[in-house]
Amino acid sequence: MATAADTPGTAAAADIAAMRRAVALAARGLGSTSPNPVVGCVVLDASGHEVGAGWHERAGGPHAEVHALRQAGVLARGGSAYVTLEPCNHTGRTGPCAQALIEAGIARVVYAVGDPNPQATGGADTLRAAGVEVVAGVLEAEAEAGNAAWLTSVRLGRPYVLWKYAATLDGRVAAQDGTSRWISSPESRADVHRLRAEADAVIVGSGTARTDDPHLAVRGIEGAVQPLRVVVDTEATAVRPGARVLDDAAPTLIAVAEDAETDLPGVVRLPRADRGLSVPALLAALHERGVRSVLLEGGPALAGTFVAAGAVDKVVGYLAPVVLGAGPAALADAGITTLTEALRLDITETVRIGPDLRITAVPTTPDKER
Ligand SMILES: NC(=O)c1ccc[n+]([C@@H]2O[C@H](COP(=O)([O-])OP(=O)(O)OC[C@H]3O[C@@H](n4cnc5c(N)ncnc54)[C@H](OP(=O)(O)O)[C@@H]3O)[C@@H](O)[C@H]2O)c1
Repeated sequence: MATAADTPGTAAAADIAAMRRAVALAARGLGSTSPNPVVGCVVLDASGHEVGAGWHERAGGPHAEVHALRQAGVLARGGSAYVTLEPCNHTGRTGPCAQALIEAGIARVVYAVGDPNPQATGGADTLRAAGVEVVAGVLEAEAEAGNAAWLTSVRLGRPYVLWKYAATLDGRVAAQDGTSRWISSPESRADVHRLRAEADAVIVGSGTARTDDPHLAVRGIEGAVQPLRVVVDTEATAVRPGARVLDDAAPTLIAVAEDAETDLPGVVRLPRADRGLSVPALLAALHERGVRSVLLEGGPALAGTFVAAGAVDKVVGYLAPVVLGAGPAALADAGITTLTEALRLDITETVRIGPDLRITAVPTTPDKER
């Protein structure tokens, strides 16, 4: 029987189809694998039929390849494995995947993105040395986008930051009197719970904590791993005992100044900056705690200093068909005083969520930190 490898045209199409499925599988791990990447794997037998599939479900658990190989059993022999990230070469909490693929008798490994982690890289070389055919870079951009949080955190040494806001059509996130519940629709708010579930930490500033007493935990998503709830409260005056963010629905960290007076548990002390606390120090403290992706939920003042620090990697705005005419804008001072300094973005997606419009965008100009 002709295999996919015999005819280059079919080979490309078959490789892309299998890798696309692996990318979709990888996404199922978002929010539960940190500090590890999300990874998906599909195993085809020697005649090109899928016999195994899996994804990395949680840190400390088996890697995607192991799940897929277990499912495939002896049918993996002489077959192909499609992996979204170069198979690892090191023994961490689990054994090296390159070795597992060799032992399973896999003849061909196709991966999308090379492993930038210096401890894990080298899997492709190990496979080649064992006589396995290795193809790299298939559907690389899609797999990169799916793993953006982890790849960014490895490359920059800080968590990936997604800034999310809900605004009126005239760009306001609250009314003049500070009320902001609710600008967006129930559908958009449910969508935000998905973003929270995919993040390792959710951050708000003390202004939002004071005005809204937000809960910040994930609701309505079965099996979701709760993110770390973070409030940036320089003087330790906004989060009071009894605040909703202090309940036991999820872990909580209050970031305060080194000299702040507080008896609250779960506090991290950070250096002050021109405005509030240092954003790089906050991100470094979170990175040290294994946080690889952050959902920044505002408000406008905190989001402004994140933008000023070059620490926003993606923006998700929910635009509601409402106008207010007065009230704070989605973003406060970001250190931009003239148009040539504007942070310009590429829109990567627009989608209707209930009555609202969700716009996703990524910065086009290189961030100042990079
Ligand atoms: N619609 C939406 O999407 C949305 C989302 C969130 C909030 N909101 C609304 O926005 C309003 C609150 O926003 P806000 O801008 O007043 O407050 P905020 O951004 O939530 O918090 C700002 C405060 O955080 C503290 N902070 C600590 N480090 C900081 C830093 N590096 N940069 C900036 N601030 C830092 C500062 O106070 P200290 O230094 O004293 O701690 C600062 O005043 C509320 O009306 C809320 O309802 C709307």
